[in-house]
Order: sequence, then C-alpha cells, then structure tokens
Amino acid sequence: MIIAIDGPAASGKGTLARRIAGHFGYQCLDTGLLYRAVAHDMLSRNISLEDTQAAEWAARSLDPARLDDPSLRLPGVGNAASVVARMPGVRAALLDLQRNFAAQEPGAVLDGRDIGTVVCPEADAKLFITAAVEVRARRRYDELIGRGEPVTYEGVLDEIRRRDQRDAGRAEAPMAVAADAMLLDTTNLAIEAAFDAAVGLIKRKIGQ
Ligand code: CDP
Repeated sequence: MIIAIDGPAASGKGTLARRIAGHFGYQCLDTGLLYRAVAHDMLSRNISLEDTQAAEWAARSLDPARLDDPSLRLPGVGNAASVVARMPGVRAALLDLQRNFAAQEPGAVLDGRDIGTVVCPEADAKLFITAAVEVRARRRYDELIGRGEPVTYEGVLDEIRRRDQRDAGRAEAPMAVAADAMLLDTTNLAIEAAFDAAVGLIKRKIGQ
C-alpha cells in the first residue's frame, strides 16, 4: 500500500503524513528532508548551491540515518533545498531510495512535491494538500517562533512564495497535482479536522 501526499511549502502535509502513517500502521518518509540534507551538506561545506556536480555527489552519498537533524528544518535550508531540487542529477540520485522506501510492507506514506506524479505514479491513494499562502506562512511562522528562530511573518511569507514558484516552475518533476489526486484544502481546517478529512478520502479511495 502506497499513500502519496504532495503539496506546496508549509501546507501541513508533513504533519498529516505522519499522522496518516500512524493511523494505518505504515512507515513515513518526508522526502523534503532528502533535498534539505543535500542543501545542508553543501551549505556546511561552503560549496556554491549552483555546483551541480557537488550537489549530485552529496545526493549520492546522503546518509538516510541523519535525516532527524533539527537544523535541516531551518528556513534557509528549505530555500537552498529548492535550488538543488531543480537539478535532474540530484533528483535521479534520490529516486531509488524513495522507491525502495515506498515498496515496504505493509505500506508506506511519502510526502513531497512529485510523489504522485514521478516517484510513485502507481500509488494506491494520492492527496494534494493546499492552503492559502497567508495561512501557510502563519503556520510556519508560529512553528519557527515556537522553536526560538528569529523570523518575521513577512519574511516567511516571502520565502514560501518564492519557493512555491521555483518548485512549480522547474523543468524536472515540478510540483503538480497528479491527474488522479484528491485535493484537500486546509485553509479553514485545524489539524484534527484535516486529519479526519484526509483519512476519510483515503479510505474511500482504497475501499476500506
Ligand atoms: O516542509 P516544507 O513544505 O517547507 O518543505 P519540504 O517538503 O521540506 O521541501 C523542501 C524543498 O525540497 C521543496 O521546496 C522542494 O524544492 C524540494 N522537494 C522536492 O523537490 N521534491 C520533493 N519530493 C520534496 C521536496
């Protein structure tokens, strides 16, 4: 069983994916962390983000055991991730890891931008999570302030807008709604209501 969850920055897909995985007893992979890890590796070694060869090398030598590093979640790393995520070689290097994860029994939930379209086009259920950009920015701002990060609401909003544009506009595996994806707009939904709605959609789709 494969559940694909895509959507723009800070749409709540990560939280939903974890909760959905817990509900069904599946493993969960936040694929954004893979791109964040590649970018973080480049930043920490002072390598230009435009260095395609170095980015591909970082992607090929990525250690999945280190994806729980909290510094991967910093806003600057998200922005840098969307720069290296445009590179076909980086995306190709991360594909097997994602597909192997998806193949595990009894099931897997993956969240990202291209899970339903490129990584797992055969997924049993696909959700595309959206919310108004101002609401997404507010949620991400609250999350970062809660962690003591010195951010402003306007800064977070601007970063999310630029990242969405880059992710949707790139040539390779752009963020897109798969033809058979179910849309869930969480603008007016708190996490509990969004979770209930998501589980309802998935169950209907997989016939449970
Ligand atoms: O958590 P948030 O929504 O802010 O972002 P993320 O899911 O951690 O993804 C960070 C960046 O990685 C995105 O802006 C994309 O550029 C890239 N990404 C991607 O290209 N493909 C994916 N499947 C997941 C993330």
